[in-house]
This record gives sequence, structure tokens and C-alpha cells, in this order.
Amino acid sequence: MKTIFSLFALCLSSITMVAQNTSANDWENPAIIGINKLPYHSTLQLPSKEAECKEIISLDGKWAFNWSKDPQSRPVEFYRTDYDVSKWAKINVPGNWQMQGYGKAIYTNMAYPFKQDAPRVTSEPNKDWYSYDHRNPVGSYVTNIMVTKDMLDKNLILHFGGVKSAMYVWINGEKVGYSQNSMSPAEFDVTRFLHEGNNRLAVEVYRWSDGSYLEDQDMWRLSGIFRSVQLWVRPNVHIADYTLHSEPSADWKTAKVVATLKVCNMGKSLAKGYKVNVKIGNVSMSGMVKDVKASDTISIALSSTMKEAHLWSAYDPFLYPVDINLADANGSEVEAFVNHLGIKKVEIVGEVLKINGKNVKLRGVNRHDHHPQTGRYVDRKTYETDIRMMKQANINFLRTSHYPDDPYLYELCDRYGVFVMDEANQESHGYGIGNTFLGDNPDWTKAHVDRAVSLVERDKNCPSVIFWSLGNEAGAGQNPLAMRNAILAIDKTRVIYYDSDRSVSDIYDDGYLTPEKLASEAKRINDRPFMMREYAHAMGSSLGNLKEYWDVIYADSTICGAAIWDFVDQGIKLGDAKDFYYGGDFGDKPNDGHFCCNGLIDADRKPHPHYYEVKHVYRPIHFETEGKYGKIVPKAYDPFVNLDDFIIEYEKHAFAGTEVTTATVKLRFDTEWERAGYIVSQEQIVKGDFRYQKDITSKGKSISKLEDGKNYVVKTKRGTFRFDIAQGTLIDWVDKNKNKVSGVLEPYFWKPDNDNQKANGFGNRMVMWKDAKRNITSSSCKIENGFAIVTFEMEYTYGDMTFGCNVVYRINAKGEMKTTLVYLPHNGITGQMPKVGMRMRYAKAKGDNPELLWMGRGPWENYPDRKNGCLLGAYKMPLSEYMVDYTKPQDNSNRCDVNAFVIKAKDNTMNIVGCQPLNIRVWDYTEDDLNVNHPSEVQHKDIVNVNIDADIHGVGGVDTWGAPTLDKYTIDASKPHHMEFILE
Ligand code: GAL
Ligand code: MG
Repeated sequence: MKTIFSLFALCLSSITMVAQNTSANDWENPAIIGINKLPYHSTLQLPSKEAECKEIISLDGKWAFNWSKDPQSRPVEFYRTDYDVSKWAKINVPGNWQMQGYGKAIYTNMAYPFKQDAPRVTSEPNKDWYSYDHRNPVGSYVTNIMVTKDMLDKNLILHFGGVKSAMYVWINGEKVGYSQNSMSPAEFDVTRFLHEGNNRLAVEVYRWSDGSYLEDQDMWRLSGIFRSVQLWVRPNVHIADYTLHSEPSADWKTAKVVATLKVCNMGKSLAKGYKVNVKIGNVSMSGMVKDVKASDTISIALSSTMKEAHLWSAYDPFLYPVDINLADANGSEVEAFVNHLGIKKVEIVGEVLKINGKNVKLRGVNRHDHHPQTGRYVDRKTYETDIRMMKQANINFLRTSHYPDDPYLYELCDRYGVFVMDEANQESHGYGIGNTFLGDNPDWTKAHVDRAVSLVERDKNCPSVIFWSLGNEAGAGQNPLAMRNAILAIDKTRVIYYDSDRSVSDIYDDGYLTPEKLASEAKRINDRPFMMREYAHAMGSSLGNLKEYWDVIYADSTICGAAIWDFVDQGIKLGDAKDFYYGGDFGDKPNDGHFCCNGLIDADRKPHPHYYEVKHVYRPIHFETEGKYGKIVPKAYDPFVNLDDFIIEYEKHAFAGTEVTTATVKLRFDTEWERAGYIVSQEQIVKGDFRYQKDITSKGKSISKLEDGKNYVVKTKRGTFRFDIAQGTLIDWVDKNKNKVSGVLEPYFWKPDNDNQKANGFGNRMVMWKDAKRNITSSSCKIENGFAIVTFEMEYTYGDMTFGCNVVYRINAKGEMKTTLVYLPHNGITGQMPKVGMRMRYAKAKGDNPELLWMGRGPWENYPDRKNGCLLGAYKMPLSEYMVDYTKPQDNSNRCDVNAFVIKAKDNTMNIVGCQPLNIRVWDYTEDDLNVNHPSEVQHKDIVNVNIDADIHGVGGVDTWGAPTLDKYTIDASKPHHMEFILE
């Protein structure tokens, strides 16, 4: 019975399958991924040289546009030549329509923003989702193409750089084709559709399609024609594609170069006597093309040897200029392209990844293609800024997470020198990482393979590409295997990488391990190189323990590197918005909040403080001393680095009673990305132990005390101090009739969380340090040897936990006050504490922006686990700059190893002197003021809120979904702590 029943069910389901496939929309049918698309091919002309290529006509600009909330309400016949679009609005192409006022931008991580029901995208979602009422928005685009008479004799090809997620194309009312796979080019032969004069190009774009199931990347879900559109006016006989291949000799001195060209004949008669010429550097190669029949394509390979091969690497991105041309039987040039070639070899030797025979370390970063105003369309200047900022931070490896970017980005990586993991547009973690639903399903094989082929065909000539990635957090099974095989059929010169099915990956990858786990996993894995495609989740204030990661990576030759998640925040700032918007800010549902802002830099490309930590840890050179404080010796971090390419300067200065040598490493030569003299890194060598001022002196006897039961009052020549006996706090400090403080000086063990800490439950774990009740168990005030000494002994209770705290204030006649704080654990307190120290508020005049001067680490914000990039020195900046506005406000602004700090308000100066290294955070708002969603909502006040700490909990640097700050950067609450500082 059971068998019969399941057989019946099986029949039923296969019937529905068939019915579905025949009646399904192309955009809800994985069997249809394109109609009439031309084969993918390499970027024929170097993007920066497009203007020199006579074949390219840009169609970018303002197009007529109509937006419909679902397919039913779209203007079905808009492609017809008699359909009036004169009243339609205009939209920028390239661009995303959500960034130009149509529909909602949606940010989700794993969740599909429509009802997950592959391959359908219009099933009914939750009622409160945006997609409920906007089942699949459609953008209808219309523009004109001007065609001259002589163009009609040519082969005309319409090129779309990127359209999300699916589109139909018509010319003059006739259907040209259909395309999915949104991050790769789509091309159509439109010769027969065009006529002389004006032609109507109509494009209908669907926000979601079955392709969206493979495009479930953690990013803003944006739509439209977001990369350039071009018309290529090509000779009928033309170079359809070419491959530049190079192979260095075993001794790395010479190289074999091979150019393989595909020549096609789109004309009507036999093409005879054509010749191809390829010049690479000063090697010229040419060859006769065999006769090509009409509608046929033939392949011709030219090869030669470069006698003195200069290899390409990220460190020395040496490129040979390449000229390619096709000449007809008369010897006249038919077409010509320029490109470049970098000679390199990528190989895996045992467990080691080698480039040009050298053990490489990939100091990497992931990057999404994102612009705060234009979304997925990134202009060239921004690309230049990004790759330059990567080079400036000593980043040598980029993963184009999680899809191919615009070809210009790769040209920059070739020229500036960045190794690239080029990733296929394939992600489906809505179905689970390693899912077989899509990964092992034959209905989806074509779509998978298409994404691999389009990636490799387009970028195969980019020297910077060292890895092909099959995608991110996606399926496992026969489909990634088919992708791998398809790639190997095109290119065997790169390494294939995949995170979701290790059986098809040449590299063993694991993400977001702790430094310790990274070390042990890399030891355990013995069959291939190890890497972390993603690590050091840079959300909010992060990047703690980056140095610890690299200590592990440098110590193990089988770890080829790691890439930070990620480079740039995906904040959106439109119109006159003051803040970056993130998930939910557009009323987008579902959404994942500000989880899209995990960058080293903000969306306007302003570095976050942790950018500078990366620059330091990723530096190419470090310094060692011979013996204790002996000769300082520069050392390259890896075999590619040539010390002669840098100028190294040493400068000695005093800091906290010892000598510090700062070694500065500068570029000796101009590069494509920076001028000679650029400071690549700075590092300090400290000669001896730091010495701090330990005490204040007693001068004169003009000190007195007063006690009224409620207060201890200490009068000096320079100020009167009043302490609250019941609270154990300093409540006033009056000098020249002005109260210097506006909030008490008191022991304080709490600090608000940052994103990493919020995710790991810091608030709950640590709540006792915020809520414990303070009881004064004894106090006294006396005058002794010219000092007034005020002592408070306190006990804090929280539930059945208690801890003790003693504070001694010593005040001299000059009005200087030394504070000693002792923390004492009681009855078995365990766990961690947020900080050890005190807080107070200084008064400032309305609108005043006090100047802060300090001796310590700076200039950028730093915390105990993220301070390597911040040198010891003397710094100065206004309070407004000292504070850090995180996209989602959180704890910020600490500076470590401070031995002197001055707050210079207009009429109130305060000096803080550390008797030990201090951590200082200063804000003009309170901790509660941070409980808002955006920086512009923070209420700035006429206060200077200062925290003075002996120690503070590190920011964390593993992930933002639970990993704690490394133990060594936390504070053990079961041990006593002690701190001293002086206020003047
Ligand atoms: C990774 C994923 C990224 C991003 C990151 C969290 O696992 O590959 O796309 O979602 O987590 O920010
Ligand atoms: Mg389809």
C-alpha cells in the first residue's frame, strides 16, 4: 500500500513539474537562463582605454523609465515603437532604480527578500514583507540608438555590463533576447534589428528571478541596469575573443607566451587572407588566419618566448603592454585592441601556495561593490580610491565577494598590484551552506555552470587573478563540480577555490576561526594549503587581535593568508540624509539592520580607526633588535619584499621616561598608487621601562578641611574640593568661583558594548558592573604632612555578589589631587569586568569644542587589543574628532598608554597625569545617549564625559555573532586591581 501510494505521489509530482516547466515564466524557470545571448568572452579592450576603441558607442545616460510594483501592472507593450513614453520619467543608466526613488532598497543577509519557493519568486510571503505588495517589481526602460548608414554594414553587438536580476530586450518592437546572471555581461547580436536613424531599445528588468536563488548575497538587494551599456560596431570579420597565456621557465628567467585568438566571420562571404598581429612588450607575433566561412569562428594560436621575463606580482606589478590587431588581405587594419600581460605562475606545491615559486602570504580583504549614492554602480573614481586605499593599507589580496565586479576594478588590481580571488555570482545560503537542494540538483546545473563560465571567460586575461572562486556559502554536490570542470576546460593556470564543498576546492578554507583555532586547524589539515576566506569581522569598532592572527599565519608556511570581512561599509546616504542608512531604515522588511556595515572604511571612503591597524599588521617590513636594545634591523615579512624599494628612517624621542625609536618605512619610488615618500609603515622600538610620575609634592601649608556630616570639604590655594560622604564621590571642584566638574568623580567599572560585544552577550554577562549598589563602609578626611587625605572604603553588592573598592584622594596646597583606586574581589567573584577605573564630567561652555592634548597612543582610537597601528607620541585634536561616530553608535574613542592628558575647554583646563599607563575615553554625551540608531541622533551636551581607566575590555576581532574578546584582552574580576592618577 505504502509503495503504491508513494508511486502515485511521485507521478503526481512529476506531472506538476512538467506543467510548471512549460507554463512557467522564464524568470521562474531555471531551465531558461538566457535567450539569444552571445558567448561570453574576455574584456577585449582595457577599460581605461575604451575611449581609444572606435568600435564602442556608449549608450549610458538618461533613459525613459517606468516602474511597476509587480509583473501584472507593468506596461506590457511598452517595447512597441508606437507606445508613447514621452511622459515617462528619466532614469540614470547605469544605476539602481531604488537609489533613484523607485521601490525600496532591501538589506538582508541570509533571507531571500521574497517568499523562498524556488524556482518561483512570486509566491505569497509574510504579509508585512515588502514583497507581499510588491511581488516582483519591474523596471521598463526605453532609449534611442542612432545608427548611421555605414554602421549597417557592420556587425552590431549590444553589450550590457550588468543588469539585475533578469531582463528582456527589444529593438524596434522586436524581441532580441533574455538574460539572467546579473553580475556578468550579456551580449546580443542586434545587427538585423537595427536600421538607419533612430532605433528604439526597450529593456524590461525583473527585480527577482530564479537567478535570484543563486544571488542570495548578504548585501543590499538592488535592481536595474547598473553597469554600462554599449553598442559595439564591429567589422563583420572580427576577433570574438582572445586569451593571453604566459608561462615562466623553470629558472624564472624567460617565459613562453601564447596568444590564442578566435576570429569569427559574421559576414555573408568567405573571409580570406586575414592576419592577426600580437605585440607583447617587444615580442611581435603574427599569423595568417585560415579561411573563415560565413557564420563560423576559427581559432589561431601564436607563441613566442620572452628572453628576459619580468614577472608580475602584487609587489611588483610589472605589465607588458599588449597590442592586438586583425588585418585584412590587403594588409589594412580591420580592428585593434590594447591590453596588458603580467607573467606569473600560481601553483600548489604540497601544502604551500606559491606564486612565481615563492611562498606567498595573502594579506587580504573582501569587498562588495557599493557606493552610498549609486548602490551597485560604482564609478571609476571610487574604484581608484578603493584600490589605492587597499594598497595604502598594505593589503595585497582582494576577494571580489561575492560576484565579479566591473572590469575596471581588475585593471586597477593588475596595475596597482593586488592578487585577486575572482568569485562567481553564486550564493544560496538561504537554503543553507552546502545545500544539495540547489547544489546537487540537475535542474540547476546549467545556471551554475553559466556563472562559472561567464566569470572565467571575461577575466581570464587579468594578471591579478590567482583564484577562481565558485561562489560563497552555496550548494554542494554535482553543480559546483560541474562549475569546476567547466573552469578547468577554459583555464588551468589558476587555483580553484570553494567554501561550500571542500571536495572541489584546491584550498582548504575555514572562516572566522580564532587565532588559536587557526593554528591548530592548519596543523591538522595536511592535504592542501589553508586559508581563511573571511576573518576579522570588521563591524563597528573591531579588528582586535589582528596581530595574533598574523603571528600564526607567518609561523605556518601552509597558511597562505586570510581576508578581512570586509573593506567598505554598505551604508546608503541619499539626498540630504545626515547618516548612513542601513537595513530597516527604508521600512524594508525583512532586514538585517546594520549588519551590512562591516567595513574598514565607511561608505564615503573615510577610514574607520581600525583601518590603520590593518595597515600596520599588513606592513611588508618589521624590525628586530640584535640583543636587548641592540642594533635595529629591518626584516621583510615575505620573500617578495625587496628592502631596497624602501627608505628607512630612524628617529629617537623620549616617552614616559625612556627612549623610543620610531622606524619609518617610506616608498623609495613612485608607484601607480602613491608617490615616493609615502609612509608605508611605522614601528617603535622602546629602549627601557617606562617611568611615570608617581606622586604630587606638598608645597606650603595653605590647606584646610571642613566636615559637615554630609561633605568633606578641602580648601587649597587653587580650588575647593567637596566630597559626598554618603556616596564616596567628588562632587565639586571650585576654582576661581567656577565649578570645574559637572558630574561626580567616582569609581566606575562599566562601559557600553560595541557591535562585537553586543553579539556576544556582553551586556548581560557584565550587567553587575553597571547595576551593583555602592555602600560606603568607612571614610575619613585628614590633613597629614601638607596633604589633605580623603579616604573611602566601599562595598558593592549585586545579588549575592560583593566586591570592595577603596579610593584615596590626596590633595596638596597647589590644588593637585592624586587618586588611588583599589579594586578588591570578594566572595568568589569570577568572570570578567568591563573596565577598571573612574569617570567624571567636566563642565564646558555651550558650543565649546575643547582641544584635547595627550601623550600616549594615537592619533586614532585604540583599545588594548587594537593598538599596534597607533604610535606612542604627543597628539592634539578637538573633542569632536576624538570621538568616533560609528554607523550604529556604540562605545568609542579610547586611547591607550596615556601618561598625560589635557582637556582644554574655553574656561576650564584639566590635566590628567597617569602614574601608570591610562586608557582615556572622552565624549560630550552620556552612555545612554548612545542608545540611538544613527550618529545624528546622539544628543551632544555641554559636558565632557571622561573615563580614566587602568584597563579596559578589548574590542574583539573574531566575529560579530558571539565570539568573545580574546581572554588576554579581558580583565579578570577575581584578581585585585590598582590604579593611580593625578588631576590638576
Ligand atoms: C560571511 C558571509 C558574508 C557576510 C559575513 C557577515 O559568512 O560570507 O557574505 O555575510 O558572513 O558579515
Ligand atoms: Mg530562468
